[in-house]
Amino acid sequence: MPVTHLDSLEKIVSLSKSRGFIFQSSEIYGGLSAVYDYGPLGIELKRNVQNAWWKAMTQVHDNIVGVDAAIFMHPRVWEASGHVEGFNDPMIDDKQSKKRYRADMLIEQHILKLRENGDADKADELQNLLDTSGTRKGLCEDLYEIIMNEEIRAPESGAFDWTEVRQFNLMFKTHYGAVTKDEDDVIYLRPETAQGIFVNYKNVMDTARVQIPFGIAQIGKAFRNEVVARQFVFRMREFEQMEMQYFVEPGTDGEEYDKWLEKRMEWHKDLGVRGEHLRAEPHPEDKLAHYARAAADIQYKYPIGWQEVEGIHNRTDYDLSRHHEYSGKKMEYYDQKEQKRYTPYVVETSVGLDRTMLMILCDAYREEEVDGDTRTVLKMHPKLAPTKVGIFPLIKKPELKELASKIEKELKEEFTVLYDESGSIGKRYRRQDEAGTPFCVTVDFDGLEDNTVTIRYRDDMKQDRVPVSRLSEVIRDGIKSWKVI
Ligand code: GAP
Repeated sequence: MPVTHLDSLEKIVSLSKSRGFIFQSSEIYGGLSAVYDYGPLGIELKRNVQNAWWKAMTQVHDNIVGVDAAIFMHPRVWEASGHVEGFNDPMIDDKQSKKRYRADMLIEQHILKLRENGDADKADELQNLLDTSGTRKGLCEDLYEIIMNEEIRAPESGAFDWTEVRQFNLMFKTHYGAVTKDEDDVIYLRPETAQGIFVNYKNVMDTARVQIPFGIAQIGKAFRNEVVARQFVFRMREFEQMEMQYFVEPGTDGEEYDKWLEKRMEWHKDLGVRGEHLRAEPHPEDKLAHYARAAADIQYKYPIGWQEVEGIHNRTDYDLSRHHEYSGKKMEYYDQKEQKRYTPYVVETSVGLDRTMLMILCDAYREEEVDGDTRTVLKMHPKLAPTKVGIFPLIKKPELKELASKIEKELKEEFTVLYDESGSIGKRYRRQDEAGTPFCVTVDFDGLEDNTVTIRYRDDMKQDRVPVSRLSEVIRDGIKSWKVI
């Protein structure tokens, strides 16, 4: 059977909307760019991913506990973390169209074009200049010079009429309280969930009776005023992170970092994502964030290219030491056995929930030629599928409906199910294929005699006859033994 895998992000955008996975925010008002809402199928998928992460990070580990910190935090947190000073992107404005671009990305696109046109030497030379930008005059000045020298034009207007390059802080600011609106009231929407963990490190240590090494996990919203944000849920201004900070004794951090990188890669494969579409990319030493001793991206091969879905970072004692310095509260750990005190090092695993959802949708997408027709199907792991079982009476007859409703009621106790009696059976199967539903159960007249039904499998479209009494077991086995095809 000829199969086409995903070749453009547009297909996922369109399927997400038509099937109710993901909608543009405030669409009836023209939409809000880089903000998205999850629809009925999207929220089920999202919850399944969250639960899979929570189980893998907390439930199966004796020494990892969870928190749910607030989005608003004391403004000093973001001074201590370095975000007020350094969480910036270099941006440049096209004076004609008034559109804003990330200066480094403009140069990257220009380099890509040079390569496509066969000018590899020039592309290498510019890549080198880009990689070393910030080392000559300053980051903004170096990027501006490259754009000017190369006469890089604005992608949309084609104009060569730029402002200077300026640093743009990515944090959203608002005012706290209703009385005044001066700088003292400024508060930020958190740009990462991690700081909510660091500031609760002592509370957790004092109450959860944990001993190093231990971890704190959290799932929650983060906000970044991204300059470039036009790749669907890949780069959003409001998104969700699933982060875990693992507190370790200094000196063991290298080993723990390697262990977590490996574990996290396995987690992505356990979601049913094909191994050949995943890779770990360590950050070169000269590109590490100010807080990191080592870092790697887990990247997925999206239709827009290899891109980060998760970051693993060895953050050393940077955050705890900074919070000690800014709050005056000690962040040390006392090792009773060894009778020594130290500030723990932190290995962080940080995965974007929305990027994970996008990865799952992209990896699951297939178009197959079936009887001269194209079947679009999402072959995602059944444990993640928003609906596990579609239940259909073959035709709209009260006696078939009665048995189908009885089965629906029973299966509902264990699985997410959907009852559907409208349209031909073929159309109903196709609707569920597009929604990624792994099993469909059809009730026909033979079944009224012998209490059996047809179960149809999404991936290979095979059908089996099974007794109603064995349905749950067959579905359970199907979920457990699933392999990507
Ligand atoms: N606490 C570390 C941290 O926040 P990061 O690499 O900036 O590290 C971690 O972000 C993950 O959050 C990324 O790997 C990505 O999956 C997700 N993420 C970051 N910015 C995002 C955005 N604008 N839209 C969607 N997901 C984003």
